[in-house]
Amino acid sequence: MNAPVGQAKPVPGPLKPHIACPTTFGTASECTGIAVFDFLEMEAKTGIANTRLRPSLGILDPTCLSSLPSLVLAANGFDVFSHAFESLTARPFTHRTKPASSSTRPLSQGANPYSDLACREAIRLVGGHLVTAVNDPTAEDYEALMFAGMLAGIGFGNAGCHIPHAMSYAVAGLVRDYQPPGWPSNHAMVPHGISVIVNAPAVFRFTGPACPERHLMGAEAMGASAEELADQTPGDALANRIEEMMRATGIPNGLSGVGYSMEDLDSLVSKTAPQRRLLDNAPLAIAEPELRQVFTEAMRYW
Ligand SMILES: [Fe+2]
Repeated sequence: MNAPVGQAKPVPGPLKPHIACPTTFGTASECTGIAVFDFLEMEAKTGIANTRLRPSLGILDPTCLSSLPSLVLAANGFDVFSHAFESLTARPFTHRTKPASSSTRPLSQGANPYSDLACREAIRLVGGHLVTAVNDPTAEDYEALMFAGMLAGIGFGNAGCHIPHAMSYAVAGLVRDYQPPGWPSNHAMVPHGISVIVNAPAVFRFTGPACPERHLMGAEAMGASAEELADQTPGDALANRIEEMMRATGIPNGLSGVGYSMEDLDSLVSKTAPQRRLLDNAPLAIAEPELRQVFTEAMRYW
């Protein structure tokens, strides 16, 4: 299991063949070596990340998406976007210390030319198809989103996610009473894609100055207009475009929309600060003061 919750030992040997057939989309377990779970004792999510967990074969059927409730589609589509954009802006592989041997190389290696290709296309597909897939879908929208989910998986499975995903584990783990429409209603939960995207606009305003050209690339791929790109910093243009798409797809209004208030700030920050595998993958240094600022800005967007 990932440190510091676990000891981050490598998987000791090859696993049995695994054919993965996702029934939704977005998580991309069919093409990554990452398995995440809810650790109820610690009210946190963590996982195992190792290349040996990658399935031997994935089978994707976009028609599965036609039976998903609209908020599930929206949440998973934003998860795909965030996988792709976090990977595109992850601390590049050229800025890392070389491991002592190839067997100790981490699964997440930072942004690299191979993952960049997949991520840019995944963002373009989400930007062009998510709003219509939620509101007035066609078979083409479903196919685009299913494919985008896999592409983003290829991207983050090699590059790695960062701050929005690190924050999402606390947002999901500390839930009190939010019950999203479209999911089973027998318990409170913040679905993964929602727990990620409610953080994203605040995070990308913060990370924008670290790699403005990549934020500009993301804003363009998501469909920001030429005027928006000309009038705003790249981080703001991207964040505003995400907010526009959140509103158009019924995503809650930031952390306050899923039941949090400023009184929860300390616990959200202290649950997120230990997620170093993800936080250290960000394009700039982030510790508790910066997390406090980003969580505060993520409380409400409109
Ligand atoms: Fe995710």
